[in-house]
Amino acid sequence: MEELIVTGGKPLSGSVAVHGAKNSVLPILAATLLTGSVSVLHNCPALSDVTASLVILEHLGCRVTREGDCITVDAAAVTGTEIPHRLMREMRSSVIFLGAVLARCGEAEISLPGGCELGPRPIDLHLKALTAMGCEIREEGGTLRCSGPLRGAEINLSIPSVGATENIMLAATAAEGVTVITNAAREPEIEDLQRFLRAIGAEVSGAGSSTVVIHGKKPLHGGEHTIIADRIVAATYLSACAAAGGQVQVLGVQRRQLLPVLDTFREAGCLVRSWADGAELTCRGPLHSVRPVRTSPYPGFPTDAQPVVLAALCKGGGTAVFVETIFENRFRYVGELLRMGADVRVEGRVAVVCGVKRLCGAQLEAPDLRGGAALVVAALGADGESHITGLAHIDRGYAGLEADLTALGGCGHPKKTERLRENEGERGRGDRENPKASEQAKKRRQPERPVSGHLGGADSGRDSGRLHCVL
Ligand code: UD1
Repeated sequence: MEELIVTGGKPLSGSVAVHGAKNSVLPILAATLLTGSVSVLHNCPALSDVTASLVILEHLGCRVTREGDCITVDAAAVTGTEIPHRLMREMRSSVIFLGAVLARCGEAEISLPGGCELGPRPIDLHLKALTAMGCEIREEGGTLRCSGPLRGAEINLSIPSVGATENIMLAATAAEGVTVITNAAREPEIEDLQRFLRAIGAEVSGAGSSTVVIHGKKPLHGGEHTIIADRIVAATYLSACAAAGGQVQVLGVQRRQLLPVLDTFREAGCLVRSWADGAELTCRGPLHSVRPVRTSPYPGFPTDAQPVVLAALCKGGGTAVFVETIFENRFRYVGELLRMGADVRVEGRVAVVCGVKRLCGAQLEAPDLRGGAALVVAALGADGESHITGLAHIDRGYAGLEADLTALGGCGHPKKTERLRENEGERGRGDRENPKASEQAKKRRQPERPVSGHLGGADSGRDSGRLHCVL
C-alpha cells in the first residue's frame, strides 16, 4: 500500500504553476468524439481520470496519443457506441460520454454510473433533457440504451447541474434546430467546453451565464485548445499555505474563479493579493473566525474547495461554520481530522469548526478526492509526521502534488515511503511485482510544470516512490 508521508509544521514558500483543470479536460475529451477529425488538447493534467477517459476513447475506436501535457485524439474511425461497465465504473463523470456518443453515432449504450463517495449521484436531469430532445431511453439491468434522432429543445434545469449542462451541450451539437438551456450551470469549465466546441465549428453561446444556446448540425472539424488551470488545485495550495503558514503564489488560474476562497482566507486574517491570472496568500499568524461558508453553484463557494479550506481553518483561534448544500456526504474526511486533534462537529450538512492551538500528525486514510487533499492540508499544518493512504483518490485530481509541495516547502532526506503492510492491497503488490508499472506510476507523478520554491534538488526525494515531505 502506498502512503504519503508528510511532516508538517514548517512554513511554505514559493510559487506553483497550476495544472490543467480536471473538470474541464474530461468533458472536452468526450467532446473530441463529435468531430470525425483530429483534436489537439494542451495543458492536460496527468490524472488517473484523464487516463480512464482515454481508455474509453480508445475503446470507442479513437486513436489517442499523449506527449507530456498534450493529448491528440483522432476520432475519424469511431465505431463503438457502447461503454462497458468496467470502463464506466472507473470514473463517475464518464456519464458525460453519453451526450457525445449519442451526438456522434445516433445511439449510445452505457451502464448507469451509480453512487459515489459523496452520496447518491442521480442523472435524472441528464436523462430528462435528452428525452425532451427526442432521445428514446430504455433501462435494463443497470444499462441505459439511448437512441436518436435528436432535435433542439428548450430545457430548464431544476438544478444548475454541471454534468447535465455539459451533456446537453454535447448532444445538442447534433440535434436538428436550436437548443436553449435555462438555469444552466455557470462554472468556468462550461465556458471552457464552449471554447472547445467553437474551435471545432459548433455554434454555441451563453456559457458562463445561465442561458446557453446551441444551434445544432453545424459542420464540425478538428481543432486545437488549451485547457484552463484548475481552480480547485489552486485553492488547495492556498489552503496548504494558510494551514502551514508562509507565502505561496498560484499562477495561471483566473482570479475571478478564486474569489470566494480568497475572501474567506482574507477574513481569516491572511494577506491576499491577486491579479488577473494568479493569487498570493501570506499567512504569518493564527487564523481568525470567518463568517459561515455556504457552498453553492458557481460563482458561489465551490463544494470542491470546502474540504481543503475547512482543513486549513482547523488550526487557529477562530471558529467557522460550513454548510454543504451540493453533496450529501461531503464531510467524511472530518473523522480523520478529529484523529489529528481537530475540533469539528458535523450535524447533517453543517460542520462547526473550533480552531485548536495544534494538530498532531497521524495515520490517515483519504476517503475521497477532495477529502484526501484536505488531509494533506491539515498534515502540513500539524506537528509531526502524518502517513496518508488511499492515494488513488488523490491521484484522480492532483498531478505531481508531492513534488509541488516539496518545492514549496523543501524536502528532507529521501526515505522509503512505499511501505509493505500485512494486509496490503492489490495496488501495492502489483507495483512491486511489476517494476515497470511502478516506474510508470512514478513518472505520472512528476510535474511538467514550472514550480519554484526553496530546497528541492538532490535532497528532494523525487526518486523515492511517494515523497517524504518535511515541511
Ligand atoms: C461536477 C464536478 C464536481 C463538482 C460538482 C459541483 C465534474 C467532472 N465534476 O460534478 O467536481 O463537485 O460539479 O460543482 O465536473 N443532480 C441531480 N440530478 C442530476 C444531476 C445532478 O439531482 O441529474 C444533483 C447532484 O446530486 C448534486 C447537484 O445536482 O447534488 C450538483 O451536481 P452536478 O452539478 O451535476 O455535479 P457533477 O456534474 O456530477
